[in-house]
Amino acid sequence: MSRRRLIVVSNRGPVAYARDASGERVAGRGGGGLATALRGLVARHDVTWIASALTDEDRAVAAESGGTLDEVGSDGSPYRLTLLAHDTDAYDGYYNVVANPLLWFTQHYLFGLGDAPVLGERFARAWSEGYVRVNRSFADAVVAELDNDGEATVFFHDYHLYLAPRFVRDARRDAMLAQFVHIPWPQSDAWSVLPQEARAAIHDGLLANDVVGVHTERWRRNLCASAADVVGAERDVEGRLAYRGHTTAVTSRPISVDCAEFDALADSEPVLDAERRIESTRPERLVVRVDRIDPSKNIVRGFTAFGLLLDLHPEWRGRVTMLALLNPSREDVPEYAAYRESIEREVAAVNDRHGGAGYRPVEVRIGDDFPLSVAAYKQYDVLLVNAVFDGLNLVAKEGPLVNRRDGVLVLSENAGAFDELAEWSLGVSPFDVLGQAEALNAALTMDEAERARRARALADHVRAHDLDWWIGGLEHLLEPSSA
Ligand code: G6P
Repeated sequence: MSRRRLIVVSNRGPVAYARDASGERVAGRGGGGLATALRGLVARHDVTWIASALTDEDRAVAAESGGTLDEVGSDGSPYRLTLLAHDTDAYDGYYNVVANPLLWFTQHYLFGLGDAPVLGERFARAWSEGYVRVNRSFADAVVAELDNDGEATVFFHDYHLYLAPRFVRDARRDAMLAQFVHIPWPQSDAWSVLPQEARAAIHDGLLANDVVGVHTERWRRNLCASAADVVGAERDVEGRLAYRGHTTAVTSRPISVDCAEFDALADSEPVLDAERRIESTRPERLVVRVDRIDPSKNIVRGFTAFGLLLDLHPEWRGRVTMLALLNPSREDVPEYAAYRESIEREVAAVNDRHGGAGYRPVEVRIGDDFPLSVAAYKQYDVLLVNAVFDGLNLVAKEGPLVNRRDGVLVLSENAGAFDELAEWSLGVSPFDVLGQAEALNAALTMDEAERARRARALADHVRAHDLDWWIGGLEHLLEPSSA
């Protein structure tokens, strides 16, 4: 695979700076599976990464470096990092009003439309003074970088940056622009919750790219349909979207895991240590879930389903525990704080109903403890991924890769990973808690040979379609000649 010059643009960057107890500056990993996966780009290409300064220390670094600094990836590969210190009010509107509660909710179908969303002045201000403004400053930084290297390919990521490609295209007609959307693309009607101007601007911005990627064919179909319905884009003979005198190729390719990194992690001392702690207290069977605390992950219904399992199959009481490792997320967004409370209520309800005599059916750990997550992946008998909707869901790939117990994957049919992994998992509707309870029971009672067959097939699939495979498949699309 040839190295190319890439300008990677994402809201959250690959590192986050902080001060340790002794006051020294330390660079930690940027949170979330996406940043982890994209870090693979640094090893393979000559990368300048443009991201938001998110912590106080990020801002200090941005101020000292005058914007751009030299960094090294986890494997020692050098890259350049540009941190943008946005105006805090603008960032608040962009992230806490538009990107997360509105775009994320729209694209994951999370609104109960009877009463939400209500888009008044707060939204209007957050849109024009937040989302538009922050996208504009990302675009300005990209244009400045293209002034240094006009041949570089620009690779935008995700729903935070739908407008930036148009701003760049207006300034640099011939630039090679690509964007990957890592979350679901909903059907056309879902976009009707946004004011006409906003939904048109989003599609207009996205179609300023030469290439747009999504994880699955389902999201690709929806994107082509809404581009036609919302802004009148047409399909040309090669299947590209033609719009405003420009064509955009829309492609699907599911992201994956760096298998070597996971294998090494699975054998690392922090993971072995966490695994020993799990082993010393684990019951006969362990159901695991690992998620950010996000309504799209369907955590509450998962606990309801687990409670139902114990109602319907009381023989499991005392013999199976559900271990939920939950990572706090977007806590300044009220919907997320409310969701965390719903989780706590449902856990208490299940534990009150079925617990006692030293048995606690649901064990929840809230925090960001990656070694513990990998240890739980190794130890599960059942992995529950029941997302309402999910662009892909990396947990569904990470777990089977390192699991050591021939564990069974129970997987939502609305997770992008279902397209790839359906054959070897137990599919569930995320809304059907009875179906989820029965799937958990089927997983717990599946015979050994069948469990082993499925577990092996899942791991083999992930190994054959790893992060290198994902990046390799995007390679030719990022070549200027594909524009
Ligand atoms: C998840 C999604 C990504 C998204 C990220 C943002 O990981 O899968 O598509 O970019 O969340 O998370 P953040 O913590 O930065 O809001």
